[in-house]
Amino acid sequence: MSANELEATLGRLRAAGQEHLLQYWSELNSDQRASLLQQISAIDFDRLAALWSSVEKLDPQDSPAAKAARATPPSKIVRVPRTEADHAARAAARAIGEQLLREGKVGAILVAGGEGSRLGFPHPKGMFPIGPVSGNSLYQMLAEQLLARGRRSGRPIPYCVMTSDATDAPTQAFFQRHDWFGVDPADIRFFRQGIMPAVDRHTGKILLARKHELALNPDGHGGMLEALHKSGTLDWLRERGVECLYYHQVDNPLARVCDPEFLGFHRQLGASVTTKCVVKATPQEKMGALIDVDGKTEIIEYSDLPKDQVERLTPSNEAVFAAGSTAIHVFNRDVLEHLSASGSELPFHRAVKKVKCLDEAGQPTEPTVENAIKYERFIFDVLPLAGNGLVVEARRHDEFCPLKNATGEFSAEHVQRSLHALHAGWLAEAGIDAGAAHPIEISPLVALGADDLKNWKPKSPFPPGPLYLGPQANS
Ligand code: UD1
Repeated sequence: MSANELEATLGRLRAAGQEHLLQYWSELNSDQRASLLQQISAIDFDRLAALWSSVEKLDPQDSPAAKAARATPPSKIVRVPRTEADHAARAAARAIGEQLLREGKVGAILVAGGEGSRLGFPHPKGMFPIGPVSGNSLYQMLAEQLLARGRRSGRPIPYCVMTSDATDAPTQAFFQRHDWFGVDPADIRFFRQGIMPAVDRHTGKILLARKHELALNPDGHGGMLEALHKSGTLDWLRERGVECLYYHQVDNPLARVCDPEFLGFHRQLGASVTTKCVVKATPQEKMGALIDVDGKTEIIEYSDLPKDQVERLTPSNEAVFAAGSTAIHVFNRDVLEHLSASGSELPFHRAVKKVKCLDEAGQPTEPTVENAIKYERFIFDVLPLAGNGLVVEARRHDEFCPLKNATGEFSAEHVQRSLHALHAGWLAEAGIDAGAAHPIEISPLVALGADDLKNWKPKSPFPPGPLYLGPQANS
């Protein structure tokens, strides 16, 4: 790198008040210098400065606390079926969704760029072996659902997998090593989200993780909008005739990938964005809540919900924040296209966090108190921008048990128990005696629900112990 290049970078840094990023320059070798300059060149300093000063500029009416105080429960919501008429409505929606799938109008997005720090798994979370009997990964369990759904509608479903700098290479290698889980690689497209630096919470200065490395994190799953556009993935989807995008997170193997009922309600009720909710287990549960604010449906993240609002009731005693977001959505492709083409930016949320960084003596340090601000975009902020939001309620035990934590609630053990309960329930509903089989796991290539098992008879009684109904169970 030339002296001019270095001078130019220094100029940018001085203008942004971030020249400390080069303070260890003289100690770095040439590879480290090149890497540091490359990281710096990717930073949008104007955006960062605007974010740092935005806190004071926020209209008080737009603060999460003010919005929470004005919130009411979502008005456009399809509740879980209770009556004959509800069941008939679900069947009609399913037929519409199946038609969309048969016409090849459905694509899927999997977001897998998160750091999964709470789980403590040293690989991308999607590689976690979650199958209670098979030990299949989250990636496999989700991709096989997509494959099965595409096979039965006779049209493959384009699969867009969002990765980040940290998860991209291992994720792509994992898919390749597993032969893309049977999905045609031509139907899969990986695209990478952007990064944001973490800044010192008192000064706004970017933190250094090492002398040649900025403290960087993925820019939140809301980075998807920009990344879909920049990577040409939206064009790819349009060229393939995709109109609706089923969106899901990598952590929930109970998610019904490209659920026809959900897609059908979205289309039938003319929504731009539809979200699946479950009733929160407790008001304090760490889930975003679906609410209406000023006539629009949106999600308020649990971390933004003031403590004194969490249990608020409506005058008719309905809990305002009870509709928990499963983070499963359907987006109309043209809505995402319109937002990205018009330059509509999703807002950044700020979170005060502990971030490992160099101390003043240049030594790596593990902070004991929150020292940093991380900025992240949330994809569900598309909801109020797009308008026309819809909520569809699901039963928690059927569709929601994400892998989040190393122990306790939403740990691997909890998720595996839920998968067993779901699959054992399908066998029971189909009238199949599982005997003393335990735990039970059914591959998506065998069944996507109890209905798929109703005409299926095991060749012999199941032996006691772990039972995996894999693809060979059909032969
Ligand atoms: C998330 C939702 C919450 C919802 C809950 C349901 C957010 C901010 N919160 O909470 O409203 O009720 O799931 O389980 O989404 N990801 C990326 N890139 C990123 C950050 C995250 O791809 O930069 C992906 C992760 O890989 C994961 C998903 O987004 O698949 C969820 O992220 P996470 O930070 O774990 O959200 P939660 O706090 O679990």
